[in-house]
Amino acid sequence: MRPSTASFAFLSLVSAVNGDIHQLIVGTFGTEKLYTLEFDDSALTLELIGNLTTNAASSWIALSHDKKNLYGTSFTSASPAFVSYTLGSATDIIYNTTVALGGNCSSSKAIFVTAASESPYAVYGTPFGGNAECGSVISVDENGVLSDVIQNYAYKSTSGVHGMAMNQNNTFLYSADDSANTLWTHSVDSATGELTYVSSVDGPVTGADPRHVAVHTKGQYLYVILEGANELAQYTIDQTTGIPSFENVTYSLIPSDVTSSLYWSDEVALSFSNNYLWATSRARSTNSTGYISAFSLSSDGSIESQLFLNATTTSGGTANSVAPSSFSDQFVALTDSSIGFVQIWQLGTDAASASVVASVSIEDGGCCANAVWYS
Ligand SMILES: *[C@@H]1O[C@H](CO)[C@@H](O)[C@H](O)[C@H]1NC(C)=O
Ligand SMILES: *[C@@H]1O[C@H](CO)[C@@H](O)[C@H](O)[C@H]1NC(C)=O
Ligand SMILES: *[C@@H]1O[C@H](CO)[C@@H](O)[C@H](O)[C@H]1NC(C)=O
Ligand SMILES: *[C@@H]1O[C@H](CO)[C@@H](O)[C@H](O)[C@H]1NC(C)=O
Ligand SMILES: *[C@@H]1O[C@H](CO)[C@@H](O)[C@H](O)[C@H]1NC(C)=O
Ligand SMILES: *[C@@H]1O[C@H](CO)[C@@H](O)[C@H](O)[C@H]1NC(C)=O
Ligand SMILES: *[C@@H]1O[C@H](CO)[C@@H](O)[C@H](O)[C@H]1NC(C)=O
Repeated sequence: MRPSTASFAFLSLVSAVNGDIHQLIVGTFGTEKLYTLEFDDSALTLELIGNLTTNAASSWIALSHDKKNLYGTSFTSASPAFVSYTLGSATDIIYNTTVALGGNCSSSKAIFVTAASESPYAVYGTPFGGNAECGSVISVDENGVLSDVIQNYAYKSTSGVHGMAMNQNNTFLYSADDSANTLWTHSVDSATGELTYVSSVDGPVTGADPRHVAVHTKGQYLYVILEGANELAQYTIDQTTGIPSFENVTYSLIPSDVTSSLYWSDEVALSFSNNYLWATSRARSTNSTGYISAFSLSSDGSIESQLFLNATTTSGGTANSVAPSSFSDQFVALTDSSIGFVQIWQLGTDAASASVVASVSIEDGGCCANAVWYS
């Protein structure tokens, strides 16, 4: 770590102090690799500094609360499993173990993983495709390493959950069930991390297909990517039951003059300060581009306005996943798997647009899935 210039970092939430070096870790869909990138937020350069051969491609990776462990899906294995790495630094990545979902949760691939931010720091994983009607809760040991599957819980026979998010105090977990067009709520046992079913609601319309979700830190709003409808939906969360309700608040993630069926929306994530929300769509064909959009949020988390909808430089492939930086509202990482690259986008003046300021090409035939900011 460099000496901190953090005393100036909060003069403005939008403008970070520049002059620091940051690292990201990136997974892939098809190659058994983890890459480490270094971003200089002053020189605006992005470099590949780590290239680790692993025993699993990870369609999704997630950091533990303290960034000492990295969890990934084992996307290239025949049955769903999750991998656990210990992080000494962003380039000191040590494989520790693989945990299989097992039981009747076993006839498809692991697609998504997320880690609780509060003790007991359980890890939540879902498979996708085939019989994906379940999810798993995995315990971690005292070092944060994946330990045992402590619960396989059921969704429904048509399910395929592609994304999940917890509220800030880890009392509820929301699951975006793309295959069954359903949004699920589970309550979380604060002692074990195990889940109890609370509710399931259909997507706003047939074919809306919730894919990824994010919860505002104040817990009143849930943001849902509707992959099929190519929209971002804002749900209001009941503070007693934790159940989100759709109140007909949606924003398009594609321009009004394109054909929706040629796109599939991807990811939603909060910015560093939680004042902005980022969302993306992908083009289904490489002959078109995807889109990146940001929204301004009021202090309670409700969406104030859609700030812009800018074309990305490629279709995004099966990625176009956006990862806001953990140090500034200005920067987000965007991954592409149609060619294989990671870009850093910067929010423009007055937050009225965003553009690419740095890029690294990783054309290994499987990269790039999602990125996490290590620092
Ligand atoms: C996995 O991590 C644990 C600590 O949690 C350690 O004791 C063990 O040696 C590690 N195993 C491997 C294979 O690295
Ligand atoms: C696993 O199968 C058992 C017996 O059929 C069933 O009761 C249970 O709900 C299933 N669990 C999941 C997670 O699908
Ligand atoms: C958790 O946060 C929600 C709002 O997100 C709040 O309503 C609830 O009281 C909190 N619960 C605990 C146990 O802190
Ligand atoms: C939902 O909002 C749309 C667009 O604002 C509007 O056309 C539609 O009538 C609304 N539907 C309901 C049920 O309020
Ligand atoms: C791109 O490809 C799709 C699928 O093959 C096709 O439907 C669409 O018309 C093409 N668009 C353009 C602009 O060529
Ligand atoms: C980005 O979006 C803004 C607002 O929608 C628009 O004014 C600007 O021209 C777009 N920029 C690019 C490069 O598409
Ligand atoms: C990663 O390392 C391997 C083995 O040295 C090399 O073949 C490959 O080109 C490297 N990948 C990238 C993206 O640099």
